[in-house]
Amino acid sequence: MLIKTKSNILSGEITDRAVFESRREFIKAVTMLSAGVMLPGSAHAQTPVDSYSANLQVSDRTDVINYTNYYEFSTNKHDSTILAKALKTKPWSVEVVGEAEKPGVYDLEDILKDNPVQERIYRFRCVEAWSMVVPWLGFPLGDMLKRFKPTSKAKFVEFTTLYNPEVMVGQRSSVLDWPYVEALRMDEAMHPLTMMVTGMYGDELPNQNGAPLRLIVPWKYGFKSIKAIVKIRFRENMPETAWHKVAPREYGFYANVNPEVPHPRWSQSRERVLGGSIFTAKRNTEKFNGYGEEVAALYSGMDLTKYF
Ligand code: MTE
Repeated sequence: MLIKTKSNILSGEITDRAVFESRREFIKAVTMLSAGVMLPGSAHAQTPVDSYSANLQVSDRTDVINYTNYYEFSTNKHDSTILAKALKTKPWSVEVVGEAEKPGVYDLEDILKDNPVQERIYRFRCVEAWSMVVPWLGFPLGDMLKRFKPTSKAKFVEFTTLYNPEVMVGQRSSVLDWPYVEALRMDEAMHPLTMMVTGMYGDELPNQNGAPLRLIVPWKYGFKSIKAIVKIRFRENMPETAWHKVAPREYGFYANVNPEVPHPRWSQSRERVLGGSIFTAKRNTEKFNGYGEEVAALYSGMDLTKYF
């Protein structure tokens, strides 16, 4: 997270007007899905991703799977591709604890039976000022959380990554206080854009990208999108999170993509898109990573320079 390289460069751009139009269709369709409406011609709930993605140039898969942030394996963007192969991701279970009526240990296989996988193409923006566009496979986080019946006391939901320093060799160093923990406010977690991800590019999630289960919150910096989740805790109070713990002035709890709030050590107003060449221009970073129309209301009345 603290290291920058020159190898991540802009590849594609999108037109504002086209994005505006397609986003409206996307949200309409997401709302239909949330209401249980099937789209024509689909046996399972199918995302409206085609209309949304039409204007986003998908990043090259090779770039996305070979340039990862996964400190449990390495602080280097390339080594996790090899090192994470050692992680056994089947069978996998998720422990659910805290403020919920249905805590327990759930097999991922069973979770998947209840949650049909959809494809969604999202732009994903790292706090280190690079971004990519990925066709993720997964399901709305909120659909899964509802099944655990959070109580009225549940104001936050916390996620924990596997702790296994024998395999996750990066956990032998103290670069973070392991295990990796991230969290969302309940309304952020229940937002239809927030996704539990199990795959990408029409296939299983590569280990280095967080297999078998990771979070994707497209309007937040990448560090919120925790990988290899083994535990979910519903909480009344705001949890401490991994990056906030190690550098509270640099990594806030909210971590909403915001070009107006620079990281203390670099600007957040521009980003390089993964792929391309070093001669390709950067793109302007959009507030909430371009998803403001959908999510800005979650933060109305909040001073986002204070709650960064
Ligand atoms: N989750 C865990 N458990 N460990 C990590 O080091 N890195 C985060 C996030 N999730 C990280 C993690 C950061 S900083 C980013 S930018 C994204 O994963 C990167 O996702 P990607 O490697 O699939 O592109």
